[in-house]
Amino acid sequence: MNQRLNEEKPAFHPDHSRISPTAKLVAWWRTFSDIPYAKQVSELSDAYQAVRDMLDPMGVDPAQTLWGAPLLEIRYKSLMREIKSSGYKQVLELASGIALRGLAMTADPACAYVETDLPGITREKLKIVEAITGKAANEVRPNLHFVEANVLNMKELDAATAKLDPDKPVVIVHEGLLQYFSRAEKIQATRNIKAILRRFGGIWITPDFDFRETVAEWGKVGSDAAGKMLEAIAQATGRAMLSEAFENEKEFLAFLASEGLEGERVRQCDADMKVSSEKTSGITPDIMRTLAQGLHLWKIRAL
Ligand SMILES: C[S@@+](CC[C@H](N)C(=O)[O-])C[C@H]1O[C@@H](n2cnc3c(N)ncnc32)[C@H](O)[C@@H]1O
Repeated sequence: MNQRLNEEKPAFHPDHSRISPTAKLVAWWRTFSDIPYAKQVSELSDAYQAVRDMLDPMGVDPAQTLWGAPLLEIRYKSLMREIKSSGYKQVLELASGIALRGLAMTADPACAYVETDLPGITREKLKIVEAITGKAANEVRPNLHFVEANVLNMKELDAATAKLDPDKPVVIVHEGLLQYFSRAEKIQATRNIKAILRRFGGIWITPDFDFRETVAEWGKVGSDAAGKMLEAIAQATGRAMLSEAFENEKEFLAFLASEGLEGERVRQCDADMKVSSEKTSGITPDIMRTLAQGLHLWKIRAL
């Protein structure tokens, strides 16, 4: 038999730029919400076409995936809330895609924001920001910076944090990144983030630690289309999503402790959160309840 046919595909393809189109999938879901810039970003990035390119091969109709809209809205808004309530005034966002949270948050001149992601999607974002604001992206505001950085590359992260005030603590955030990472990559990302926390002080806030036990529970309520959609994303990104997630909270907290970190679990959706896409996406009250009760994020500090 042909040698090539015998070669196994890697479970985690080494080219991380294959993950970048998922930024457009989530950008499209956000168009069902009142998140700032969501509709413009989706149009300017032709996000719907990227969604079709990703889902068509598995025969998934994007309209069958609209539970993603409130999920993404809740996730985005929960990070906004936690950044604000931390009281810290400088933010480093990793793998920020085309969410433009930095553009939204730096309307407050006291908030310094550095958005980072891989080169390809960052360059697309610069053009989007330019189209929205009419200015070169890195000149829109003195407190807003866009930098290319791979979270696994400490030198690139150092170049990004050079934009921050070293005498002030930092909030480090990311959403929708670690789900794509192997265990070894999650550990490397954690160590890089910890190095930044040790230097600046502050907090790491992320919803990205999914547990295999929890996802198995969610799978029972999920539709056939949800399973196919995850398979389509895994195929497109070349990443065996969730296969190297932590088993449960206990294993995760032990990992954090072994790295000199401690984590606090917080529900993403609180009583004050208005989820605008509940109506526009037409999801059922049951799904909404599951999301509101089941989605969490982690607030992590160095010990
Ligand atoms: C699902 S998208 C999430 C984007 C954004 N956080 C959002 O919610 O809209 C995943 C993002 O991870 C980025 N990414 C993947 N591997 C990365 C790496 N090694 N370093 C930095 N970003 C990475 C991709 O480019 C993509 O923008």
